[in-house]
Amino acid sequence: MGFLSDALSRIKPSATIVITQKARELKAEGVDVISLSVGEPDFDTPENVKEAAIAAIRRGETKYTPVSGIVPLREAIAKKFKRENDLDYKPSQTIVGTGGKQVIYNALLATLNPGDEVIIPRPYWVSYPEMVGLCGGTPVFVDTTMDDNFKLQAEPLERAITPKTKWIILNSPSNPSGAAYSRDEMKVITDVLMRHPHVWVLTDDMYEHLVYDDFKFVTPAQVEPNLYERTLTMNGVSKAYAMTGWRIGYAAGPEKLIKAMDFVQGQQTSGAASISQWAAVEALDGTQAHLDVFRKAFAERRELVVSMLNQTKYLKCPMPEGAFYVYPSCAEAIGKRTPGGKVIESDEDFVSELLSAEGVAAVHGSAFGLGPNLRISYATSNKVLEDACSRIQRFCGSLG
Ligand SMILES: Cc1ncc(COP(=O)(O)O)c(C=O)c1O
Repeated sequence: MGFLSDALSRIKPSATIVITQKARELKAEGVDVISLSVGEPDFDTPENVKEAAIAAIRRGETKYTPVSGIVPLREAIAKKFKRENDLDYKPSQTIVGTGGKQVIYNALLATLNPGDEVIIPRPYWVSYPEMVGLCGGTPVFVDTTMDDNFKLQAEPLERAITPKTKWIILNSPSNPSGAAYSRDEMKVITDVLMRHPHVWVLTDDMYEHLVYDDFKFVTPAQVEPNLYERTLTMNGVSKAYAMTGWRIGYAAGPEKLIKAMDFVQGQQTSGAASISQWAAVEALDGTQAHLDVFRKAFAERRELVVSMLNQTKYLKCPMPEGAFYVYPSCAEAIGKRTPGGKVIESDEDFVSELLSAEGVAAVHGSAFGLGPNLRISYATSNKVLEDACSRIQRFCGSLG
């Protein structure tokens, strides 16, 4: 009898964490490494949010909180959904977790039984299939294509739905592709889902605020109000408020689901960190002025990176609507040889050779279920991005 659980054999380590770690180690050895693999903004948490946290510490808000979150935060979340998404949720229909990750995980843990299927469009955020597997469910992948800008289409979705489908996980704007669904594009998906009343919708709206060029963000229950009764709308402060380390995510949905998630969380971590919760109240209720600053910087960086990558031999890079990632194809580089004689056989080879040759860390697309591509995070300065893209150009130019 082995000591470790069978569940471990069902999961893979997070490729993004592995690559970020490898880049860190190379840096520590003195190698000049540029990491484009991180999934967090390079900005600091806004000052008003930090002040709110300091004030919370001084007031002594340092004790256990209710499992689902402090009342002021659940009220702020309900207000946010009304103000920004035109969705009516009572505070009792909301839950706060230790990061968006925990919220998704607990929704799956509270609902999945062995054999239950969860539809996940590819490319996907690395954690979805692993979480589904850990909770005993079966991920069912539906491919998108670069020609469709990595957006799910009605027909393949319809074909993937079976009587065992319990959830579909939607993520717009997407990590890794940056693709975001317009109202019309989302309606195509919600129309399919309306024909299958047993399928629940878990929408991960983590990058809601990071959209560019007048793009209007929409969430499924807003586009199709009839889905409200079977939708969990998940979001968080990590990305838009540069609060990745504070670990606050949240969701709203039908009360019976929220209660079940509360039940799971009560035997797990209990309430999220009290100080972080008070900081999140300020993030949601306070000034949103920083968002324009973030968006402007990200929009410029997106232009820079897409333009430079599209001038790179063997790469093709679509212009995504949101998040801070681009997802170029490196299909034309497959089969080419590095100056050292190594044949690039996969996107994993591509990123590994790129890291060795030029010290640029990106993540291979196959880690997100769809390649040959690479995910490049542009959450760093223009200067660093220019340097990185020049190095990628030099690397691709050296292949033959
Ligand atoms: C699509 C997506 N959802 C959820 C999360 C998790 O966010 P958090 O850091 O709040 O757990 C991430 C973080 O990388 C993400 O990219």
